[in-house]
Amino acid sequence: MMHIVSNIFALVCTLFFVYSLKWLKRSLKNYIILQKLSGPPRQGFIFGNVSYLCESSDVVFKQLREVGRNFYPIYKFFVLHEIGANVLSPEDIELILSNPVHNEKGKFYKALHRWLKSGLLTSNGEKWQTRRKILTPAFHFNILQQFVVVFNEEAQKLVQSVKHDSSVNVTELMSNFSLKIITETAMGTKLEFQTQREQEYKKAIHESGKILLYRILHPWFIEDVFNLFSPHFFRECKLLKTLHNFTRHVIKEKEKKFEEIGLVEDSDRGKKPLAMLDLLFHAKKQRIIDVEGIQEEVDTFMFEGHDTVSAALIFTLMLLANNRNIQERIVEEMQQIIDTEPTYNDLQNLKYMERCIKESLRLYPSVHFITRHLGEDVTTHSGYFLPKGTHVAVHIYDIHHNPDIYPDPEKFDPDRFLPENCQKRHPFAYIPFSAGQRNCIGQKFATLEMKVVLCAILSKFILEPVHAPENVVLLADIVLRSKDDIRVKFVPRS
Ligand code: HEM
Ligand SMILES: *[C@@H]1O[C@H](CO)[C@@H](O)[C@H](O)[C@H]1NC(C)=O
Ligand SMILES: *[C@@H]1O[C@H](CO)[C@@H](O)[C@H](O)[C@H]1NC(C)=O
Ligand SMILES: *[C@@H]1O[C@H](CO)[C@@H](O)[C@H](O)[C@H]1NC(C)=O
Repeated sequence: MMHIVSNIFALVCTLFFVYSLKWLKRSLKNYIILQKLSGPPRQGFIFGNVSYLCESSDVVFKQLREVGRNFYPIYKFFVLHEIGANVLSPEDIELILSNPVHNEKGKFYKALHRWLKSGLLTSNGEKWQTRRKILTPAFHFNILQQFVVVFNEEAQKLVQSVKHDSSVNVTELMSNFSLKIITETAMGTKLEFQTQREQEYKKAIHESGKILLYRILHPWFIEDVFNLFSPHFFRECKLLKTLHNFTRHVIKEKEKKFEEIGLVEDSDRGKKPLAMLDLLFHAKKQRIIDVEGIQEEVDTFMFEGHDTVSAALIFTLMLLANNRNIQERIVEEMQQIIDTEPTYNDLQNLKYMERCIKESLRLYPSVHFITRHLGEDVTTHSGYFLPKGTHVAVHIYDIHHNPDIYPDPEKFDPDRFLPENCQKRHPFAYIPFSAGQRNCIGQKFATLEMKVVLCAILSKFILEPVHAPENVVLLADIVLRSKDDIRVKFVPRS
């Protein structure tokens, strides 16, 4: 009951504010223009298409795919008082993602601000530009090379922890793995998540993700003012305290050490991998970032850098388990290239494995949709006019499953990524890491991490299927997830 009351109350307040005259004046023009797009029928004047979002998240996901198919190449979507445009063709997506004028993120990222403040993912304009400049060196190959050491170490621990011949809940396995990796590389802190404080942090990360999703699917809770009425508001506050307190303390401790030792030069760094945090401290010395800024970025990496990789790995393991011949081809390639543990250079040379990862991210793009705020008017290739200020959603999942671009789209076929086959495709027909200036800064990091753990697993185990891709039900979550946890059988390779 409280649930319903608070929802209605927030809704009424939202409507009151947003229908104020000022808003009407500014938005009426855009509204009238966008009305002309086709799209799914709206349920009443007030709710628009929100009923599409208020179903359970597997239904939401399925309905969105259907709408995408029915209204290619563009459709409108009413969220309360606003109309968003959804673009589906690679040509139109290129128009938006490749033009820095449209770099500003769409509205729903506001829901992320309480946690990530305005870190790289959520910031805009000059702030984003400065931050991107500071953080780009953190993904330079010199540093990635050192991270490979961490990846290998954790991957070895992972394979040792797996019970032979057992059907493994890879959801938990990969989630543990990727969270450890990002903590160690971003903050330079090894976590086993055994102490209560660490476990609480981990729980807070997972639970905050759920609350974020709730706010996005109940869009009247996106604005902070109205979020006050959310049934999860107080829980969210408590979780955010845990999250921020944890990173703040790690940063404080690390900074003390940094002040004592200083940034170690390349040659004598020895085996100790450099963390991204060291770079941020360095930037702080030059006064281009402050403590709050550092924390924003650490929180951002913790958010963006683990669930995405974990989801990609879960689906990749399932696909490989269901495609034994492909698995064996990867192992053959590994045997030709790798001595004991893969080095940075070895990983570059694993071309077939790379195609498998690409194809897996085509089928299951961890970040399945992104949104942007148009910085100027756009006329799409299909001839539609989108005025400045329009919120545009790009459903990456739908592009990747378009049968005109990818014949037999549900089939796992790594050869789609042979160079000659890529050449025939529009470059924006494959965008798991987005594209343009605001693409994923962690793309190389993620690919290396995935390759290392696949090497470790496939050299020790043969993967056998427990779940088939046909039976996996996907959810409209912030990161792509399956309704039921995915299991894979790990059989020792003799
Ligand atoms: C398979 C794994 C990953 C996928 C599929 C992925 C995908 C994406 C996508 C689609 C975006 C664009 C988001 C948007 O426009 O709103 C993005 C941005 C970003 N990603 Fe990733 N990501 C992955 C891994 C990582 C990792 C490992 C890190 C960090 C170590 C990371 C850090 C970031 C950051 C900071 C941004 C914001 C960049 C900016 O706006 O300048 N990602 N990612
Ligand atoms: C699998 O692991 C996830 C993540 O830890 C957990 O929430 C879930 O309950 C597990 N599922 C099964 C079937 O054990
Ligand atoms: C994941 O980590 C937790 C500790 O946070 C541990 O209790 C659990 O056994 C781990 N699960 C797997 C599958 O490694
Ligand atoms: C914040 O973290 C520190 C160090 O981990 C801990 O001692 C303190 O109790 C935490 N405070 C809160 C409010 O959680």
